Amino acid sequence: MAQQRVPLIAGNWKMNLDHLQAIGVVQKLAWTLEEGKHTYDAAGAEVVVFPPFTDLRSVQTLIEGDRFRLGFGAQDLSQHDSGAYTGEISGAFLKALKAGYVLVGHSERRQYHGETDEICAAKVGAAIRHGIVPVLCVGETAEDLERHGASAVPVAQLRAVLGTLQADAELVIAYEPVWAIGSGQAATAEQAQQVCAALRTTIREVLGDAAADRTRILYGGSVKSGNIAGFLREPDIDGALVGGASLDPVEFAAIARFQKHVGV
Ligand code: 13P
Repeated sequence: MAQQRVPLIAGNWKMNLDHLQAIGVVQKLAWTLEEGKHTYDAAGAEVVVFPPFTDLRSVQTLIEGDRFRLGFGAQDLSQHDSGAYTGEISGAFLKALKAGYVLVGHSERRQYHGETDEICAAKVGAAIRHGIVPVLCVGETAEDLERHGASAVPVAQLRAVLGTLQADAELVIAYEPVWAIGSGQAATAEQAQQVCAALRTTIREVLGDAAADRTRILYGGSVKSGNIAGFLREPDIDGALVGGASLDPVEFAAIARFQKHVGV
């Protein structure tokens, strides 16, 4: 983690927790973070949750009403702004809810919904058009890893999107090796650092130094409070995208307080 980049701890709830459960989890998360006095404010980390679409309005009103220092975002958006796209959600709607972030190209969307690099690029463009920061997810499968090594596929996925952006575009990258997601088998900090460094080099080549130095790159895949500190010690890892462990507000708060474990 480099000093100039504010660490980002993001919780992707996937298809878990309805809007009533969401209220309980967000309250507990905010209270746990406040109580411990290692607040994300003091620790300098930004904490963001990504609930299902149907929870977003409840989460927004709760965070706003109680002034919780939490951000929120959506797990997907349409590449289109409006029209005859049954079941799709426009970036304009997310902006109206004041969502700060949106996930794009999560491996589960690439795998189960056929999202190609072209679709991801269009979705990243849609998010930027609506003033929402896209969190572009990239990562290799176990087969990719065996065939091409760790970096080739995530770098190609990133390059396909970066080529469509302006140098001043704000985005976040999440490196999530598919084999590490939900497996309990996280990458080692060294493995993750190696790929995140390659991703940053790619940003440098395509968008220049300022974008490379500014853009936050997260690691995701079986992150827990017990392994977060190792990832955040690495120079090119600026946070985490957490799945399963983000459903438990006490565990997710412990991850958000990673500085306590890093010992800085
Ligand atoms: P897990 O933390 O459950 O492995 O999920 C990671 C992930 O896919 C976050 O987007």
